Amino acid sequence: MIALSVAEIAAITDGTITGEPASAAGPAGSVIVSGPVVIDSRQAAPGALFAALPGERVDGHDYAAAAVAAGAAAVLASRPLPGLPRAPVIVVADVTAALSSLARAVLGRLPSATVVGITGSSGKTSTKDLTAAVVERLGATVAPVGSFNNELGLPLTVLRADAATRYLVLEMSARGVGHIAHLCAIAPPRIGAVLNVGRAHAGKFGSIDAVAKAKGELVEALPADGMAVLNADDPNVAAMAQRTAARVVTFGLGADADVRATDISLDELGRGSFRMTMQAGSAQVRLRLHGGHHVANALAAAAIAAELGMDVPAIADALSTATARSKKRMELHERPDGVLVVNDAYNANPDSTRAAIEALAHLMSGGRRGFAVLGHMAELGDIADESHQEAGLLAARARVTGLVAVGEQAASVLTGARAQPGWAGEAIAVPNALAAVDALRNRLRPGDVVLVKASNSAGLWEVADGLLAEVDQ
Ligand SMILES: Nc1ncnc2c1ncn2[C@@H]1O[C@H](COP(=O)(O)OP(=O)(O)OP(=O)(O)O)[C@@H](O)[C@H]1O
Ligand SMILES: [Mg+2]
Repeated sequence: MIALSVAEIAAITDGTITGEPASAAGPAGSVIVSGPVVIDSRQAAPGALFAALPGERVDGHDYAAAAVAAGAAAVLASRPLPGLPRAPVIVVADVTAALSSLARAVLGRLPSATVVGITGSSGKTSTKDLTAAVVERLGATVAPVGSFNNELGLPLTVLRADAATRYLVLEMSARGVGHIAHLCAIAPPRIGAVLNVGRAHAGKFGSIDAVAKAKGELVEALPADGMAVLNADDPNVAAMAQRTAARVVTFGLGADADVRATDISLDELGRGSFRMTMQAGSAQVRLRLHGGHHVANALAAAAIAAELGMDVPAIADALSTATARSKKRMELHERPDGVLVVNDAYNANPDSTRAAIEALAHLMSGGRRGFAVLGHMAELGDIADESHQEAGLLAARARVTGLVAVGEQAASVLTGARAQPGWAGEAIAVPNALAAVDALRNRLRPGDVVLVKASNSAGLWEVADGLLAEVDQ
């Protein structure tokens, strides 16, 4: 973070300074915070600002002393901490809101940093990682670790920026209408990309229209000299062109998209190669990410990089070099016995499950037998049953040799699979990850491919880990 005094932070966050200064050198307000801003005392470093948040199990306020012992210069808290030695405490009404105000103010002092916002139902993290990998060749880039994409993660990411930062590539998520507008108020984007409108979090939104309304808030927040990057292949996204003052650039697989992919092929591990074409030129791209759905993500990243001034060959080279930065998204591991394990257990919704099963089908097309381990897809509300049935149906349609349905929705998954005429695969329901590993142990043969897909909350990466541990690596 840029250096700020405790007095400045208190003014920005409408806070009250309490506690002691770090030394006898001067009043508490003159203590300088240079960052990082952390919410975990174990990450505190000299000069840090420790933000004390109430957690589900622990209260951050109890860790303020540890943060100060590790060097934190000041604490942001929602109550005074009388016993805390050697550090001023800025007491605010709401620590998360205070971090947002601080992030907004810090960005205001960094006029040379361009904010890029990325949203969509699936692929935000993947596209954010690709975009960061490309634009960091142009200049210093700050992008979140993993999926830091909400009212807490976004300001924490912004607060990592400093005077050297040229680009902030931010992931913006919504679980309801108004959320993205709020994130855009904290970090006003100049470029905003909307990847797709799908059924993720359908239970929270109620309808696809509500999802489109929420995701479109990103392009509504763009200035007239900004740029909206929209998916031409998703009608709900393409329609957002009407909702922005910014210039629109589309990406997609069709001939009329401004940034497009043609001659797409997938190699034996499902990595996409394609000809990327845009107004400025055309170049060959060979992705290192697995799954055909990353082609669209790469095009979105390319549109952003082109707007920021990168030439087409450089974009193509950066896309072709980028490797997966965030874990458990189509992570491919090959066991010594040749079994391929695809760990896609970070996140699942009907659309990303379809994409993963398509990738599985591709991996099987070379002659491998395929197994799908499908767990719970969370937050689908009324469409939960039908979505789990659809997942089973898609796996059966892909002609998997075995379908292992895990957990509470296993019955729906298997019902869906059995509805596919002519599927001769084996359908297995198991209660948990351990049982899934047990079920697969004697069924797998060298060369098979296993897809493991579920929402993070289902914890199915344990299946992937378990399968990999079965054979000495
Ligand atoms: N364009 C896409 N279409 C469909 N599925 C995709 C797409 N891009 C990525 N995925 C898949 O969706 C899952 C989640 O990917 P990713 O983490 O990039 O999405 P996200 O939008 O950031 O998710 P979250 O809402 O959890 O932050 C992964 O399984 C990934 O392979
Ligand atoms: Mg994400």
